[in-house]
Amino acid sequence: MNNNPIGVFDSGIGGTSIWREINMLLPHENTIYLADSANAPYGLKGKEAIRQLSIKNTEYLINQDCKLIVVACNTATTNAISLLRKNYQIPFIGIEPAIKPAALNSKTKAVGILATKGTLSSELFHTTTTLYAHGLTVIEQVGEGLVELIEMGNINSQEIKTLLKGYIKPMLDADIDYLVLGCTHYPYLMPLLLELLPKNVKIIDSGEAVARQTKAVLEKNNLLNTSFLKAKNQFFTNGNPNILKNILNNDFEVTYLDF
Ligand code: DGL
Repeated sequence: MNNNPIGVFDSGIGGTSIWREINMLLPHENTIYLADSANAPYGLKGKEAIRQLSIKNTEYLINQDCKLIVVACNTATTNAISLLRKNYQIPFIGIEPAIKPAALNSKTKAVGILATKGTLSSELFHTTTTLYAHGLTVIEQVGEGLVELIEMGNINSQEIKTLLKGYIKPMLDADIDYLVLGCTHYPYLMPLLLELLPKNVKIIDSGEAVARQTKAVLEKNNLLNTSFLKAKNQFFTNGNPNILKNILNNDFEVTYLDF
């Protein structure tokens, strides 16, 4: 079991931002990445549809003998992870907008959250926000259109820049000093965000924390890979393999899979 792969899924290519962190921290772990790009964006779907797609991805990864699954998608985590944990035996790691560190460290007492509609409207997000955001102004913003453009491979386009500018404007007007990235596609917008945000605004994403949590859960369950062979990293997509390949800097083979 220890040498079995870690499964990672997302609605598309964005979860590779999480996969990178995991691969950096756990280079000996074998991995299988599943990009459900044909069904992206999840963020505009209802809870039930997001749950069904998450079940489909999970079953594919379990059939490939994955020992643990990372739900590298805030939308799928906030809508479906409790159900997945209930239905399947293996450990699941999820990702949620990191509102807690932003709330604890904000000096201006205003933080911005950029996420999908599906995440911002989820129960889990509301519970976390209510818990940590006392006395804080939280500017929630749906990143409408961003996932679609990233999925098309348009990471540096003028269109994305214009959308982002509009999305962060109300946040800057509210004097935020933290911007929480609540979607695993958004770390790829970091260069644009750094260009658009004033220096005092810090950007938080949860990728590194997810990798640390993955390691901790593998350790706790005695599931760390014991082999020192070069890891096998497999990538599958039901979308355009070249776009996934590109975001991985052409370092890996990507296989098209009709799932
Ligand atoms: N990467 C997904 C997330 O973290 C994007 C969701 C979508 O497909 O809308 O939420």
